[in-house]
Amino acid sequence: MAKESKDFSKYFDFSGAKVISEDQSGKTIRLNGRDIHIVSEPDYRQEKQRGKEEIQVHYENAVPEELKHLGVGKKYLIYTYGCQMNEHDTEVMRGLFEEMGYVSTEDRMQADVILYNTCAVRENAEDKVFGELGHMKVLKQQRPELILGVCGCMSQEASVVNRIMQKHAHVDMIFGTHNIHRLPHLLQEAHYGKEMVIDVWSKEGDIIENLPKKRTEGLRAWVNIMYGCDKFCTYCIVPYTRGKERSRLPEDVIAEVRELARQGFKEITLLGQNVNAYGKDFTDRGYRFGDLMNDIHKIDIPRVRFTTSHPRDFDDHLIEVLAKGGNLVEHIHLPVQSGSTEVLKRMSRKYTRERYLELAERIRKEIPNAVLTTDVIVGFPGETEEQFEDTMSLMREAGITSAYTYIYSPREGTPAYDMTDDVPLEVKQKRLARLNALVGELSLKHHNELIGQVIEVLVEGESKNKSTVLSGRSRSNKLIHFEGDKEWIGKFVQVKVTAAQTWYVKAEVVSEPMAASFAG
Ligand code: SAM
Ligand code: SF4
Ligand code: F3S
Repeated sequence: MAKESKDFSKYFDFSGAKVISEDQSGKTIRLNGRDIHIVSEPDYRQEKQRGKEEIQVHYENAVPEELKHLGVGKKYLIYTYGCQMNEHDTEVMRGLFEEMGYVSTEDRMQADVILYNTCAVRENAEDKVFGELGHMKVLKQQRPELILGVCGCMSQEASVVNRIMQKHAHVDMIFGTHNIHRLPHLLQEAHYGKEMVIDVWSKEGDIIENLPKKRTEGLRAWVNIMYGCDKFCTYCIVPYTRGKERSRLPEDVIAEVRELARQGFKEITLLGQNVNAYGKDFTDRGYRFGDLMNDIHKIDIPRVRFTTSHPRDFDDHLIEVLAKGGNLVEHIHLPVQSGSTEVLKRMSRKYTRERYLELAERIRKEIPNAVLTTDVIVGFPGETEEQFEDTMSLMREAGITSAYTYIYSPREGTPAYDMTDDVPLEVKQKRLARLNALVGELSLKHHNELIGQVIEVLVEGESKNKSTVLSGRSRSNKLIHFEGDKEWIGKFVQVKVTAAQTWYVKAEVVSEPMAASFAG
């Protein structure tokens, strides 16, 4: 299938614009009647490069004294799209807003600043944001003092920034994933100036520690352990939008986890695009993800999860550490993407079907009760019916219990974008439907196997449909509904599984709340 040619280049382009001034602080141009101050701009060529320079870690405060009152009397609203990485970035931005005196609102009519923290991984994620930006034009006309900002992964794409400059001139600021800590300064410029401000760093910056974080709930918390991705799977935009792999120092990660434990959080999820590459960039120590998990295993926090792990770097030491159990839960999300070695090769995943199956088997053998989930892309360029069948059979053979499934979405600038996207849309949709039916079947099968078992649940809240029913998650992240007392929310209970549904199990309580399950 021929791809439509796009109007917006992957390189930054301000043709049609008049340059008004240019100095050390950047360039100011006038385009379609709006002045645009470009401090820095996305550059696809730089995003691809992986330099050897060492990453510095900074500990100074991101909100200078003079900006601590910038938001007093003002409200902010952030819409978040995409993965947990973005959710967590939103928590950091919320922390920055609140340190400047802003308060949060859910009502866009009340907001003085609205930010879109965007995702670029698939085209439909981008379409949603452009749709929303279109709607905001009216609101901006009614309330010109409203600041409208776009940040996150889409901002790292020159084509997106070009399109906003050309078609959404009511946006006031665009910044990327590498300079979130600059938010206070960007807000200052946006509040006091009339120009659209563009500040998108093409090269990842250093690691900024001590950024304030406003976490949304008191039960579960995300903790970044590394940033970026160097894998360059041929379909994926993330290495361009998130820069090269940089690991946080273990002492900083451990201090954060200890602090969360002290604050009473019950579960943490360690975040990275490829957590198994943790530590590969350290030049002064041979400390890797297995070592980090081993150290976190000793911290008194009940549950520790991690996402996402690339099969390629999943080593025996990590398996050995995870087998210790305790607070390290036995749920492993191990994205496979395809069950065909041929397709995996074209995706540049750097493992074969056989290697994935061997790893899955080793994990299930060494880690008692390990539960595996995965990600799959259907309709990758050139995927034949037989190759798709390989994915279906792998799901069963690997013992997958659940999966996130996607139709391949061509991303401009990635190597797969230049491959012939020859699987017709109807075929992709049919494959997705068949795969989803299989995922439902495998999930139900797993849930049926749980019937009669006594399992530990972290109680999260009342179920959506019935207030006497509580909902929670097992260590393996399965959703559980059971009758219980609201007082138990935030605590651990033991339940016996009584019935299986496709996406959850029903259970009854066998013993009331415990402080924590952690046994060391
Ligand atoms: N780093 C993780 C890994 O390698 O498994 C994945 C992170 S990515 C943000 C989440 C998922 O999005 C991927 O596992 C993949 O299944 C899916 N994905 C990424 N690029 C895609 C594309 N161009 N089209 C469809 N799905 C895509
Ligand atoms: Fe994308 Fe591959 Fe990196 Fe995951 S490992 S973020 S799929 S390039
Ligand atoms: Fe999307 Fe960026 Fe995450 S592209 S999936 S928000 S890393």
